[in-house]
This record gives sequence, C-alpha cells and structure tokens, in this order.
Amino acid sequence: MHTYRAHQDVSVLGDYLEVPGLGFLAVNAFVIHAAQPVVVDTGLGLPDRDFAASLAEVIDPADVRWIWLTHPDRDHTGGLFALLDAAPQARVVTTFVGAGIMSTEHPLPMDRVYLLNPGQSLDAGDRRLTGFRPPLFDNPATVGILDTATGICLSSDCFGAPLPTPELASAHEATAANPSDLRTAQLLWATVDSPWVHTVDPAKYAASFQPLRDFGPSAIFSTHLPPVTANTAAAFTTLLDAPHADPFTGPDQAALEAMLRNFQPT
Ligand SMILES: [Fe+2]
Ligand SMILES: [Fe+2]
Repeated sequence: MHTYRAHQDVSVLGDYLEVPGLGFLAVNAFVIHAAQPVVVDTGLGLPDRDFAASLAEVIDPADVRWIWLTHPDRDHTGGLFALLDAAPQARVVTTFVGAGIMSTEHPLPMDRVYLLNPGQSLDAGDRRLTGFRPPLFDNPATVGILDTATGICLSSDCFGAPLPTPELASAHEATAANPSDLRTAQLLWATVDSPWVHTVDPAKYAASFQPLRDFGPSAIFSTHLPPVTANTAAAFTTLLDAPHADPFTGPDQAALEAMLRNFQPT
C-alpha cells in the first residue's frame, strides 16, 4: 500500500489489483482525520498485505475510534480483525446485514459494533458523518459517507473504474486518466459491479442521484478510483448512462484456457 494525504482531512491508503482483461483496479481505504478518527474500509486480505502497519504510517492505530465498513466485501475487510486488536477503542460502523455477513467469517464482538443505516449520522466529535446509499453498489449492506464538515463524499464501490496501468490506478487524482477513457472505464465498472443497473427504471435510477446532487460534494473518494477533487458533477453525468451501457459478461472456461496458454512462465 502507499499512503498519501489527498485532502486536509483525508488520507488515502492506496492499493490496486490487476483484473485480467479489464485493467488495474484501485483498492483504496481512507482515514478521515476527525476529532474521533475514522478508518473507512480496511483493504485487501492478501498474505503480503499488512493493513495495520500501513495505517500506522498515517495514524497511530491505537487512536482510531471508528472503523466504518462501507460494506463487507473482501476487498474492504482484509485488515478488519487485526485492526480491532490494534485499535482497542474502535467500534465497527456497519449495518445489521453487514454485521451478519461479517459474523459468517469470524465472530464480531457486538459490543464493538455500531449499527448505522443510510440517512443516519455518526458523531465523530467535530463533525457529523452521514450515511447514504450510493446509486450503484454490489452489496446490500453498502453505506457511503457524506462529511458535512468538509463537503466530501466517500462512495464505496460507486464511481470506480479499472484503469490501463498500475500508475494510473495509484494516481493521486482521477484526472490523471484521459477523460474519455475514464468515462468508458467507469461505465464498464458500473456494469461489472452492479449488473442489476440494466433492469432499473432509468427515471428512478436518475432520481437516486438526487441526495448526492443536493449535497454537491467537493470531492469524491471511491474505493476503486483515484480521488476526484474537481468537477464531481461530471462523475454523476457519466453514471447516469449506466442502464444503457453494454452488459458485462465475464470470460468463460474456454476464454480462461486461452488466457492461460498465453501466460509465460516467470
Ligand atoms: Fe463491493
Ligand atoms: Fe469493492
């Protein structure tokens, strides 16, 4: 992981994965430097990752007060249980469903859970962090964050995009990508991550962006995209076209075997 300060109040713990055939997908976690510090998601659980050690480059884990899981997919929960040990004051912010899903992997101490639904807020000492349901999501427990003190949005999987190179996936600004390529990649990701988007009523789908439009975020921090710190409205415009984008079908066994034949031993 590489860490950097992307905003006065937000640090990024950046990582990425190569997705064969699609590109390089950012896998970011964040720290909101509130009076009560909030870690947002906990990265990949691969054996060579050590989330708590990466976090220590940004903040003493013992000072963490909240671990907000935007949803319990495995690219968001890798460091959770180690961090609970390293951050004895911290409680896990999730939903009833999220706590249930996490409990299928490892017992989650219920006295360290804080259940929060979209529309409800967490008091982080110097600000209220309001949960919202991002327009696109792949897990019923998904809750993004609107920071009313700074105007920033943390959008979970929504707005993500696989990018052509590791350098772009780890860029500090989404503007590092060509705008047209970025739009294509965001629409591809929308169909990969939220295949239900092709079945929705486009008008109701468009209306689901309204809470975010009303908030008017100054920056969008997606788990799967470098930070968007300017022209956030363009991101909404792109995703409005998702119901009409080509549906995604992943490689089948024949395609996998063709790919494997092309792999060179290293
Ligand atoms: Fe997800
Ligand atoms: Fe994800």
